[in-house]
Amino acid sequence: MKNSKYGGAYVPEMLWETLKELTAAFESAKNDPAFQKEFQDLLKNYSGRPTTLIFAERATADLGGAKIYLKNEGANLSGAHKITHCLGQGLLAKRLGKKMLIAETGAGQHGVATATVAARLGLECIVFMGTEDIRRQRPNVFLMERLGAKVVPVEYGSKTLKDAVNEALKFWMEHLAEAHYCIGSVLGPSPYPEMNRYFQSVIGREIRAQLQEREGKLPSAVLACVGGGSNAMGSFDDFIGEKSVRLIGVEAGGIGKNVGEHASRKIAGVPGIFQGYKSLFLQTDEGQIAPTHSISAGLDYPGIGPELAELYESGRVELTYATDAEAVDAADFFAKHEGVISALESAHALAEVRKMAPKMGRDEIIVATLSGRGDKDLFNFARAFKDESFKQFLKDEYERK
Ligand SMILES: Cc1ncc(COP(=O)(O)O)c(C=O)c1O
Repeated sequence: MKNSKYGGAYVPEMLWETLKELTAAFESAKNDPAFQKEFQDLLKNYSGRPTTLIFAERATADLGGAKIYLKNEGANLSGAHKITHCLGQGLLAKRLGKKMLIAETGAGQHGVATATVAARLGLECIVFMGTEDIRRQRPNVFLMERLGAKVVPVEYGSKTLKDAVNEALKFWMEHLAEAHYCIGSVLGPSPYPEMNRYFQSVIGREIRAQLQEREGKLPSAVLACVGGGSNAMGSFDDFIGEKSVRLIGVEAGGIGKNVGEHASRKIAGVPGIFQGYKSLFLQTDEGQIAPTHSISAGLDYPGIGPELAELYESGRVELTYATDAEAVDAADFFAKHEGVISALESAHALAEVRKMAPKMGRDEIIVATLSGRGDKDLFNFARAFKDESFKQFLKDEYERK
């Protein structure tokens, strides 16, 4: 992003050359029909695109306002949108002659996606993960290991995503020749924000085409949850020039508005530089990165993609937030009304749909991106619903020989 307020590449000098090489590989790949053919083939015949656009008929009738559509990114191989930018980066890594993908992960979803792509493309894979996230997302750790990845626990700081990013960056600098750092959102130093947005922009293009075919018009609003912002930027990109379409990112409102109770940059984000890029970050009074909280590990991060921060400050993208409780309630509502069990991250967008749709006209359309499916959150859902029989099941499993 030239002449931008946010973004950039605030990295040690030894990373410059690597980032320059990556930028050049990305720019040439964009215009290379062979790269595009391989990428499109993987999206279609491996990941399973286009993903479906589900008309949420019963939810629409119940809420009594705008027609609700759900863009089902959870249908992708490995269960979320993350695989799309991993496939793109995996192909670029091979183009650059790298042997290994390294990644950080919060919810585990990006780690699973990276491990999946590494297995498919014949690359080694190392995933860094905070021990707090390992505890919350054990099933994904198990899956990453089954896929052949090595999961490295990160024990310092808040033991969540931001610490995993630090550790991945450190490892990368020691292994620049053989490793590609597969960043899991539209953040990090340039070219990652624009590169991951480019790969994810297929979401918005599909929404436009599918809605055109079904309804013959544009939506009034497109909504997506925001951790770093990759499913949001992917959903919004194709609509940025369409001024009639509201673009709404939904952040983690957690359990309150005090420091450490949420992960919303709308509530308290201020400009800063962290982990190689300039953007809005949650910070303490001393300018250190503040602790964050969200029931969903994938939204539990202090920063937001620089392009998204600019779109927010310019007024083109609106940000709002949903609390932990609202997200759990919304996931339950859409499971019961539509048979769709969403990831807790995506359920934040669904919570906003429930608030917005009844206030909109019946001739309007609202599209929410379901960034992932809820299988990975089985344990979190069971806890949220205080399901005692699930607890007993876990005890029995533990004791089973
Ligand atoms: C299912 C799901 N949705 C959303 C996110 C948030 O990431 P982003 O804001 O980059 O889409 C994650 C992150 O791990 C995720 O796993």
